[in-house]
Amino acid sequence: MEILRHVVVLVHLVGFAVLFGAWVVEAVARRVQVTRLMSYGMVIALLSGLALAAPWGIDYDLNYAKIGTKLVVLIIIGALLGIGSARQKRTGAVPPVLFWLVGPLTLLNAALAVLWR
Ligand code: HEM
Repeated sequence: MEILRHVVVLVHLVGFAVLFGAWVVEAVARRVQVTRLMSYGMVIALLSGLALAAPWGIDYDLNYAKIGTKLVVLIIIGALLGIGSARQKRTGAVPPVLFWLVGPLTLLNAALAVLWR
């Protein structure tokens, strides 16, 4: 059970890496656009995060204030990606503020995960 939980944590980290990595690629190339890869990473992080939010395979209490905060941040990221891709399809461009919030908010969630004990 403990091993399985660690595998799900690994999947969760892959979701983070895909979302953040896809955003960094666009940011470094100065392409203000959202990509499907960002949404895939977000969905992987969400589903694995929800699985980890249940107390199985651990002998300590989960920090639900932290988990709830991360869920709210992820919902905001999801809204930014959703609105961004709709605007992109309709007008061909994403409002820059939407794009530039995605990376820092993703990093915020990783920081919350690691630093809030
Ligand atoms: C972009 C979104 C997210 C990022 C970047 C992220 C990042 C991380 C990272 C880096 C860890 C490993 C921390 C460590 O082991 O020290 C982690 C663990 C965890 N995450 Fe997330 N996360 C995200 C979204 C979520 C969501 C939406 C939930 C739940 C609703 C969630 C629930 C958890 C839980 C419960 C753990 C702890 C696993 C354990 O210790 O057993 N995460 N997250």
